[in-house]
Amino acid sequence: MTQPVRILMCAPHHYDVDYVINPWMEGNVHRSSRDLAEEQWNKLYQVLKTYATVDLVPPQQGWPDMVFTANAGLVLGDVAVLSRFFHPERQGEEPYFQNWFAENGFQVHTLPKSLPFEGAGDALFDRAGGWLWAGYGFRSELDAHPYLAKWLDVEVLSLRLVDRRFYHLDTCFCPLTDGYLLYYPEAFDTYSNRLIELRVPAEKRIAIDEVDAVNFACNAVNIDRSQDGQVERIIVMNQASDGLKQQLNDRGFTVIETPLTEFLKAGGAAKCLTLKVTEPRHAAPNGSPLQSRVIRLEGHLLDSGLVSRALDTILANGGSFQVLNFDLGEQRQDQSRAEVRVSAPDASVMADIMGQLIDLGAMSPPQQASNATLEPVEKAGVAPDDFYVTTIYPTEVRIQDQWVKVQGQRMDGAIAITQTAEGPIARCKILRDLQLGESVVVGSEGIRTLRNESSLKSSKTEEFSFMGAGVSSERRVELVVEQIAWDLRRIRDRGGKVVVTAGPVVIHTGGSEHLSQLIREGYVHALLGGNAIAVHDMEQSMLGTSLGMDMKRGVSVHGGHRHHLKVINAIRRCGSIAQAVDQGILTSGIMYECVKNNVPFALAGSIRDDGPLPDTQMDLLTAQADYARLIDGADMILMLSSMLHSIGVGNMTPSGVKMVCVDINPAVVTKLSDRGSIESTGVVTDVGLFLSLLVQQLHRLQGQYGSGQAVSV
Ligand code: ARG
Repeated sequence: MTQPVRILMCAPHHYDVDYVINPWMEGNVHRSSRDLAEEQWNKLYQVLKTYATVDLVPPQQGWPDMVFTANAGLVLGDVAVLSRFFHPERQGEEPYFQNWFAENGFQVHTLPKSLPFEGAGDALFDRAGGWLWAGYGFRSELDAHPYLAKWLDVEVLSLRLVDRRFYHLDTCFCPLTDGYLLYYPEAFDTYSNRLIELRVPAEKRIAIDEVDAVNFACNAVNIDRSQDGQVERIIVMNQASDGLKQQLNDRGFTVIETPLTEFLKAGGAAKCLTLKVTEPRHAAPNGSPLQSRVIRLEGHLLDSGLVSRALDTILANGGSFQVLNFDLGEQRQDQSRAEVRVSAPDASVMADIMGQLIDLGAMSPPQQASNATLEPVEKAGVAPDDFYVTTIYPTEVRIQDQWVKVQGQRMDGAIAITQTAEGPIARCKILRDLQLGESVVVGSEGIRTLRNESSLKSSKTEEFSFMGAGVSSERRVELVVEQIAWDLRRIRDRGGKVVVTAGPVVIHTGGSEHLSQLIREGYVHALLGGNAIAVHDMEQSMLGTSLGMDMKRGVSVHGGHRHHLKVINAIRRCGSIAQAVDQGILTSGIMYECVKNNVPFALAGSIRDDGPLPDTQMDLLTAQADYARLIDGADMILMLSSMLHSIGVGNMTPSGVKMVCVDINPAVVTKLSDRGSIESTGVVTDVGLFLSLLVQQLHRLQGQYGSGQAVSV
C-alpha cells in the first residue's frame, strides 16, 4: 500500500551562489544562471507533481539556499524537528521554515542553540526497517541524534561522513523502497560502513562509484505510486550512468533524469530541493521487527571502562543505544549505575548483542527481570538450538522468579536445569553430558553474570617478556616470580591446591629437575599433560636425553631419535609408570616424583602420540573428564609451555582460579587474557629458566620464614 506523498519545495526566485559553505560552491559564486535555475527547478517541480502533491514555501530575499528545503527540518508523522544551521549564512532561513511547519499543523521541536542539525539533508528513514539513518561530521552534530530519537521515538543509527564533497547525508546515501540502499561507501568511515553492512543485506545495497556520486546520483527522490493495482517505483535524479540505471531497473525502479546543473553549483540536486512532509510512522512495534530492551550496568563503571565496552559491543554488532540514565555516585569509591536502551533491527541481532552484554555483566532492571527461557533436552548430548553458551564467570539464572546460582561454572557449556523437591538446580554442562529430562536455558532472558572489576579493567593479561626481544627487564620477571612463589607458598601452607599443566618443552629447556623439586616439596597437587611430557621426562631420567639430545652436553646422541620409543617400550613392559617406579626401572624425574608423592596425574592422548604410554588416556572424553576432576577445587593453575593443554584447561576452569601461564610464545599467553590481570598472569619467557627462578625464590622464602614442611634438596 502506498499513500499519497506530499513534498515541500521553494521556488528559486532568490536563488544564487552568494557565498561558499561547501566545496561545490568554490569558484561558483554568482556563476549560476537564474533563468536556467528557474527552468531546471520547474522541470523537477512538474515531474514531481505527477507523482505527488507539492507544497510551496515562499522564497525569501537574501536567503538564496532556501530552495534546498530538505534542510528545513525533519518530519515524522505530525512531528517536525526544525533545523539548526551550522553556517550563519543559512541560519536566517530557520524562522520561515518554522512558520511553515507550525502553519501546517506540525508539532515543532527546536534543538538547543549551539547544536547544529540540518534536517532531512542529514537524516533519512530506512524504508523497510523504519529506523533513522543520521549523518554527522560536517553540518550536523552527533549530539543532536539523541534528541531525534527522543522526539520522534525512533531508533537512530549514526553515520559519520568523511568526504567534504558529501557533506550532507543525502548527497551520498539514499534509502529506497523495500529496504534497498543507493549509496557511495567511500563517503563514510569504516565503522559506518560496517554498520550499513550489518543493517542492509548485500543484495539490497547498491553501491555507486565516484562518477555517479559526483553527479549527485544519490541525491534522488524516491516515490512509489500505485496505479491499477501496480506499484510504480520512481527515482528522480539529476543524472545517472547507464550502468546505474540498469542496476536500478533490474530491481524494479524507473529512473527519471532531470538536469539540475545550476543547483549542483551550490552543492545540491533533486533530493536537496525537496522535503517529504508525509513521512508515515512505521508499522506498530508488533509489525516491525525492531527490538528494544533496557539493560542495567552496575559497578565502578568508569574505572572499569564497562560502559564504553558495553556501548561499543552494541554498535559493533549492528545495534544502537540510548543512555537512559547514568548515576555516577558521589564519591570515587561509590558504585555507579547506568540504564541503557538497546535497539536492534531484529530478534537475532538482539540475541547476539544481549548474549555479549550479559557476559559483560549487564542485567535487566529489577522490575523487568524475567524468567529464563527453558527448553527440554530432546536428544541426550544435544542442546536445543539457541542455547545460552556459558562463560567462566559466576552465573545466575532466574527460574520461577528466583535467581539460582549455576553450579560447575565453565566456559562453552550449556545451563541444564533439573527440578528437585528442594527446588530447581542449575548446572553448567558440556553438551555431551546433557540428559533427557533436563531442560536447558535458551536465549538471553533471565541470565546474569557477575564480572569482577579486575576482569573488566584490562582485557589484556599483564605480560612479562624476558627472553623475548629485549622487551622488559629481568627484574620484572623476577618480580612476577617473587609473587608467584609467595602465592605458591601460601597455598601450600594452608593446604590449598595447585595444578600444573605442562608440555614437553619443560623437559627440553631443562626444567625437569625444578619441576621435580616442586612436586617433591609439596607445591604441586595434580599434573596434567599429554603423552609427550611423560615420555621425554622418563627418557631424560632413564637415558639422559630429551628427544635424543644429551641434556648435559647439549648435543644430539647417536641413535638418540629412537630413545623415546625405547622408553615407551620399557614402560609398556612394566604395565604402567607406577609399576616402573615400583620395579626400580624409573628412579627420578617428574613422573617418578608424582608416583612417589602421590600426586595424581592425567595424560591426555592425541593423534601424534607414539606408543602411547600405558597411562596415556586415548579416549578423549575420558581424558577431559579426568582433567576436570583434577582441576576441581584448584586455587592456582600453573601452565607451563603447552598451548593445547593450557587452553583446554582454561576453558574448563571457572573464574576465580589464579592462572599463571608461562610460554615463550606470547600468543599462548594472550589467549588467557580475557580473565583480566588479577586472575591471570602471563609470563613470556623460557620455561626452564622460569622454573629455576621459581625454585630459587621458594628457597629464599624458606630461608626467611622457616620451612613448613620437610625439605629434601
Ligand atoms: N548550498 C547549500 C548548503 O551548503 C546546499 C544544500 C544542499 N542540501 C542538501 N540537502 N544536501 O547548505
